[in-house]
Amino acid sequence: MTNEPIAVPGPLSDRHVVLGVTGSIACYKAIDIASQLVQAGAIVDVAMTESATKFVPALTFRSLTAREPYVDMWHPHGEFGEAHVELARRADVMLIAPGTASTMARLAHGLADDFVSLTALATQAPLLLAPAMDAQMWSHAATQANRALLEERGVQFIGPAEGRLASGRVGAGRLVEPGAIVAELRARVGRERGDLRGRTVIVSAGGTREAIDPVRYVGNHSSGKMGHAIAEAARDRGAEVILVTTVPEIAPAAVTVVPVSSAGSMQAAIHERAGSADALVMAAAVADYRPASAADQKIKRADAGDMAIELMENEDIIASVTGDLVKVAFAAETQDLIANAEKKLAAKGARLIVANDVTAADAGFGTDTNRITILDDQGGREVVPLMSKYGCATRILDRVAALLG
Ligand code: PMT
Repeated sequence: MTNEPIAVPGPLSDRHVVLGVTGSIACYKAIDIASQLVQAGAIVDVAMTESATKFVPALTFRSLTAREPYVDMWHPHGEFGEAHVELARRADVMLIAPGTASTMARLAHGLADDFVSLTALATQAPLLLAPAMDAQMWSHAATQANRALLEERGVQFIGPAEGRLASGRVGAGRLVEPGAIVAELRARVGRERGDLRGRTVIVSAGGTREAIDPVRYVGNHSSGKMGHAIAEAARDRGAEVILVTTVPEIAPAAVTVVPVSSAGSMQAAIHERAGSADALVMAAAVADYRPASAADQKIKRADAGDMAIELMENEDIIASVTGDLVKVAFAAETQDLIANAEKKLAAKGARLIVANDVTAADAGFGTDTNRITILDDQGGREVVPLMSKYGCATRILDRVAALLG
């Protein structure tokens, strides 16, 4: 068995993204955005305004995307007669980041006097815009009117974020971080074409914490990575994702995050939302038992002798969820992987169970890769070789999408 994880296609594989870059100090973040889009598998064409080139040279984007950026409207662009029209036609999605106040004004009023506004006017692809400007410019009535007009026409705004601005002031106007912008773009592309668009998927992630006292708990080694990868992959395929997680601080962007801690709070959060869900994927490592009572104050060390903690059973969350949704369980095992997973599949009333040997160094708890076998309620068995947790998530979601039809 090889230890090299199998490479999986990126979430934007073969998607054509036009990245519009306009003149702002936040242009340096567009470099990271271009790089992340390329790493996600997209074909990225960059269109820049002349003022954007004062902050970052076109050469930087050419190096990252391996394609010549579009800057000069009058430059004969080789194969095209009308470069902006061809670029606009090819785009699956257009993202303007950073978007300045004057770019917003141009778009709102249909002006097309630079390569970015020209392409935006010519494209029928979804348009996303991440503004960056000083707080006073953002809150100005003219900018807000332009924003409202653009939103009414279907432009999706990402941010701006609040925080420290180039002027030294603090307020709304910061460009949203590149990772979150790319996540929004991936979600949007999924909602346009993904096979889970229109579906709601609940994913649980992380290890539950069962309180012993205010400072101690019974827990396990789950990092949340597997569940978060499923949430991310479902989002990229267009699903509305509700991520019920014990590690919200590392949750992916563009999903609804419900932070929980104990098995009880996870169960309540899932029950509250299961009625409107199409699928539930339980990747969380849920404690089967909790301390019978949690002390109000920190338990002191006794002068001598041992102590015992009485444990009581937690309800099985996934088994307790009923209704017309596809349930996917996991089975984390250290022995008799398949036999134990088969028993759990039936006991939990799931359509699928993901058998996970947690003894392997490159699989299970805390790793970036996993090695799983997917069992179904018809007796089928799919062995998924070592790959990234995102890759495993896509295999699981292929099955979920097929069951949803
Ligand atoms: O988070 P990572 O570090 O990335 O690690 C990933 C993982 C190893 C945690 C994940 O791949 C995994 O195997 N998750 C399931 C862990 C687990 O609790 O397995 P289990 O065999 O004890 O439970 C079986 C199934 O019942 C699971 O889907 C579990 O979520 C569910 N369960 C368990 C107990 C309970 N009270 N309610 C439940 O719903």
